[in-house]
Amino acid sequence: MNNQRNQLLLLLTTILYIRNQLTSAVDFTFNGFDSSDVSLFHNSIIESRILTLTDGRALYSSRIRTKQPNSSFVLPFSTSFIFAMAPYEDRFPGYFFVFSFVPHIGNYTTMNPSTQKFGFGVEFDVSENEEFRDINDNHVGIDVNSLISLSSYEAGYWGNENSFERLRLNNGRNYQVWIDYDNGNVNVTMAPVGMIRPNRPLLSASLNLSEVFEDEMYVGFTAYTGTLIQNHKILGWSFSNTNFSISEGLITTGLPSFELPTTPIYRSRGFIAGMVVGGLSVVIICSVITFLFIRRNKRIRKEREGMEDWELEFWPHRLNYQEIDLATKNFSEENVIGIGGNGKVYKGVFPGGLEVAVKSISHQSSEGVREFLAEISSLGRLKHRNLVGLRGWCKKEKGSRILVYDYMENGSLDKRIFESDDESKLLNFEERIKVLKQVASGVLYLHEEWEAKVLHRDIKSSNVLLDKEMNARLGDFGLARMHNHDKVAGTTQVVGTKGYIAPEIVASGRASTKTDVFGYGVLVLEVICGRRPIEEGKPPLVDWVWELLRKGELITAVDEQLMSRENLDVEQVDRVLNLGLLCAHLDPNARPTMRQVVRLFDDMDVYLLDKKKNREFWAMYPQIFNSGSYSYPAFEDIGKGLSTSMSSSWSDSVLEGR
Ligand SMILES: *[C@@H]1O[C@H](CO)[C@@H](O)[C@H](O)[C@H]1NC(C)=O
Ligand SMILES: *[C@@H]1O[C@H](CO)[C@@H](O)[C@H](O)[C@H]1NC(C)=O
Ligand SMILES: *[C@@H]1O[C@H](CO)[C@@H](O)[C@H](O)[C@H]1NC(C)=O
Ligand SMILES: *[C@@H]1O[C@H](CO)[C@@H](O)[C@H](O)[C@H]1NC(C)=O
Ligand SMILES: *[C@@H]1O[C@H](CO)[C@@H](O)[C@H](O)[C@H]1NC(C)=O
Repeated sequence: MNNQRNQLLLLLTTILYIRNQLTSAVDFTFNGFDSSDVSLFHNSIIESRILTLTDGRALYSSRIRTKQPNSSFVLPFSTSFIFAMAPYEDRFPGYFFVFSFVPHIGNYTTMNPSTQKFGFGVEFDVSENEEFRDINDNHVGIDVNSLISLSSYEAGYWGNENSFERLRLNNGRNYQVWIDYDNGNVNVTMAPVGMIRPNRPLLSASLNLSEVFEDEMYVGFTAYTGTLIQNHKILGWSFSNTNFSISEGLITTGLPSFELPTTPIYRSRGFIAGMVVGGLSVVIICSVITFLFIRRNKRIRKEREGMEDWELEFWPHRLNYQEIDLATKNFSEENVIGIGGNGKVYKGVFPGGLEVAVKSISHQSSEGVREFLAEISSLGRLKHRNLVGLRGWCKKEKGSRILVYDYMENGSLDKRIFESDDESKLLNFEERIKVLKQVASGVLYLHEEWEAKVLHRDIKSSNVLLDKEMNARLGDFGLARMHNHDKVAGTTQVVGTKGYIAPEIVASGRASTKTDVFGYGVLVLEVICGRRPIEEGKPPLVDWVWELLRKGELITAVDEQLMSRENLDVEQVDRVLNLGLLCAHLDPNARPTMRQVVRLFDDMDVYLLDKKKNREFWAMYPQIFNSGSYSYPAFEDIGKGLSTSMSSSWSDSVLEGR
């Protein structure tokens, strides 16, 4: 009897034990997906057994146990997946996708990351977002409860000789990723699919997930593209919390390829070029003869004027690489003063004491190099007190060029607006107005006062630099045009920085002076409001200010730092904010020209001292502020248009649950 009872007890305990094991052990390997494998949210689909996320999420169909019941012990796990990501056709790339653990399934469209724990994730990011302190536009990062990565690194892998091989995320290639967590330590490794797993992880971090994980979590992929179109494909996925060799079950051969043709436009161009070359050569021969003839005459004239031939042909100066190497102490890390879209920027000091900023840019194709030369030979001649001067250039190695600019002692404008660790460095209201005025006159020069119309295409606070006398100078002009030359030489390539891109660019890809005005409008708002155009968990700056205007609370948009320190002229602040909104107007035709903006600032100076006159001054601008041609669109329309272009859904879900 007793024996029977003991046996029964033993059986019960065994069953309980097995059940426990069964519920906590998770093992799966998907070589291709079925709809029963994962739950899909928002824009995510399974097509030909491939999981495709545009702007959406896919989670393993049930929660998995991540902690031992009623204990702080986090179960180890090992996961691996194969992915490819690529922008749609030649459009501006989206943001990122992330592998993550989330506590709740959530309603993808109504989630707010600032108030929600989203758990743990590994992001694959092809956009550089200053707010999230992204290192560049091609990186992998480990995130815990925030999009500001705990640890991140350029995408790639460590080869056998400890040499780093960079991988381009956004080119449609298939890559395999391994993520292992055990005993408070996480490793992330990636490599082109088919390669054996590199020994050294790309990222390795100590991480106690005990507080981050609930007992059970959902696990899967989330992609965020804003309104831009980008495809993220997951071709296979394995996961286990018991078997660290689970990834060996993934099939890595014979997978479909999503690689983009390297030069989609040249292909057709090559064809056309072939047809045209024959005819052209005749024309060229004639031109050369004419050219030589003219040049002879020109040279005679120039020699008389004391000018050097090369100075005109290769302006600005070609510098010596060794000299620059010396000036920047062999491009040492301690000389890095900034990281731009094209690469690092170094401070250099020449033997005579001349300080410069040195930027290196790489181009793969010879086409790119040729265009680079054409570009700097014209941009080098742009001279204006509100533009950063280009001093020269030089060749570094094959496909890589160096640009040398005047050094700007006081750094970039964004540091003087947003980074408040040293309050004395923040600009006051008057200084901010001066900066906005100076930037406006720099942009006007580019648009109208030079021999050709130049679009800046990337007006933003981090591209505005302050010289020794705190004068604002716009940098990086025209460089935006050189982005991605290798890929798309056409004019429809969208360049710029998210949050500053005019809505019509997203739609048509076409930049114009009006799209620069839009960027300038966003700059005005960020400088006066002390807020970045896109911030986690908040509506986009432009939407937010419009909303305040609509509610009659425009003045509350002003940077609190200014409000608390200064006795502001409310009327002036109000008008400047209106100007910002007008420049960032949804309808390009409602935006003023830069000439109108500069005129307004000039006149403002005259009237600023006298409050009464100030009123008269604003009254002088009915054509901008009160005329029939300028009326605020219905708020619903603003919401629609701007939100989609400025991706207000930023404040919605990214990674988190519920
Ligand atoms: C965990 O704790 C809860 C409440 O404290 C209790 O009801 C439950 O039985 C515990 N589970 C286990 C497996 O100990
Ligand atoms: C998610 O929220 C949006 C907006 O509130 C709503 O339209 C949609 O129906 C919700 N979806 C689900 C699945 O609850
Ligand atoms: C992470 O990598 C390091 C170095 O290769 C290794 O010692 C460690 O065991 C790894 N940790 C996990 C969880 O795989
Ligand atoms: C993680 O943190 C919990 C408490 O928050 C602690 O009990 C546990 O020992 C920690 N684990 C490791 C590996 O440090
Ligand atoms: C671990 O997974 C691999 C790949 O699926 C498999 O070959 C192996 O048998 C598994 N090991 C255990 C102990 O289950």
